[in-house]
Amino acid sequence: MTSSPTRQSIAALLAEARERTIALIAPLGDELLNKVYSELLSPLAWDLGHIANFEELWLVQRVGGRAPLHGELGRFYDAIENPRKERGELPILRDEELRSYLDDVRARTLEVLETVDIGPDNPDPLLREGFVYEMLVAHELQHQETMLQLLQMLDVPYRPAEADPERFAPVPVGHDGGAVLLEARTYEIGAPDRGFAYDNERARHEVELAAFEIDRTPVANAAYIAYMEETGAEPPMYWERDGAGWVRTAMGIRVPVDPARPVVHVSHQEAEAFARWAGGRLPTESEWEAAAERLEGVGGAWEWTSSDFLAYPDFEAFPYKEYSEVFFGDAYKVLRGASWATHQHVARRSFRNWDLPQRRQIFAGIRLVNDPEGNPS
Ligand code: AVJ
Ligand code: FE
Repeated sequence: MTSSPTRQSIAALLAEARERTIALIAPLGDELLNKVYSELLSPLAWDLGHIANFEELWLVQRVGGRAPLHGELGRFYDAIENPRKERGELPILRDEELRSYLDDVRARTLEVLETVDIGPDNPDPLLREGFVYEMLVAHELQHQETMLQLLQMLDVPYRPAEADPERFAPVPVGHDGGAVLLEARTYEIGAPDRGFAYDNERARHEVELAAFEIDRTPVANAAYIAYMEETGAEPPMYWERDGAGWVRTAMGIRVPVDPARPVVHVSHQEAEAFARWAGGRLPTESEWEAAAERLEGVGGAWEWTSSDFLAYPDFEAFPYKEYSEVFFGDAYKVLRGASWATHQHVARRSFRNWDLPQRRQIFAGIRLVNDPEGNPS
């Protein structure tokens, strides 16, 4: 983004993000919002309260200097203190109280917004060019994707109240787009100094890459089925056999697997095993970013990379260590791109997602890289 945000543009972004959150839960009653479906994911009520609490913490308490609405409540919405499998048991806000909390925090946020200087010359980097507001919007949009992960597990049909039913549905991208060759040279990786990005996308730096070939399109279900049939590999999450074919049950709806859509809900280990079988490998995250502008089909599934989630050179945690820094190390693998559930506003080319390699409930798929003859992989 090159133009500076204004109070109006920020208020519009906040409203749009909230409208999408409300649309997401509109088809559900309180019972479903409170239901625990999996140890791997929070009940939706926790995500909703956490969205509001994150907003209160940063935009009302921190920026506005006001006291919290519900005293110590915030500690139950701390993602680090409260592992997902325990979140269903917490004394969090529910039902009417939860809805009021979302609204009351938002009203305060808009009052505080009237008083702040978000200009490019504000010496406080939290407010300069509206950083903390962009962070807030991105946070809410990212939690919408987490909520959509949970919604896959719904045991009643999920029917968005939206006029556009495709809004919360996967998009087909599957055809074989061939591969592109990237030459050996130095590439610039990471977010530029200006414009919103998370701390882990900076500093922008040079990376030396050997020549490689990367598929223009992600691996489609058809290729994954061929692999399963030849090797006996497990199907992706939510699939089951149906006669000679495969069906997938997600969001309470059972449909035949579409061979043209990108494969999704595979773990990192499964993605690597597929790549080996196909005679290729997963890209490193630098390779993915270097090739990004020449790829198709970005936006159907997150793509596992072979890279551990590590700090870039000159990394500085901002504005808090718990966004990225506490996750750095070899436990997490980086995913690049975006899934059908990712809002456009989040899907920058430099955006780094990460998760544990065994995770399958995220919308993660595969893109293959080949090393040209004579190049060591
Ligand atoms: C970037 C998706 C790994 O869900 O843990 C949400 C995003 N950070 N709230 C996560 C996030 C804080 C994060 N991921
Ligand atoms: Fe969060």
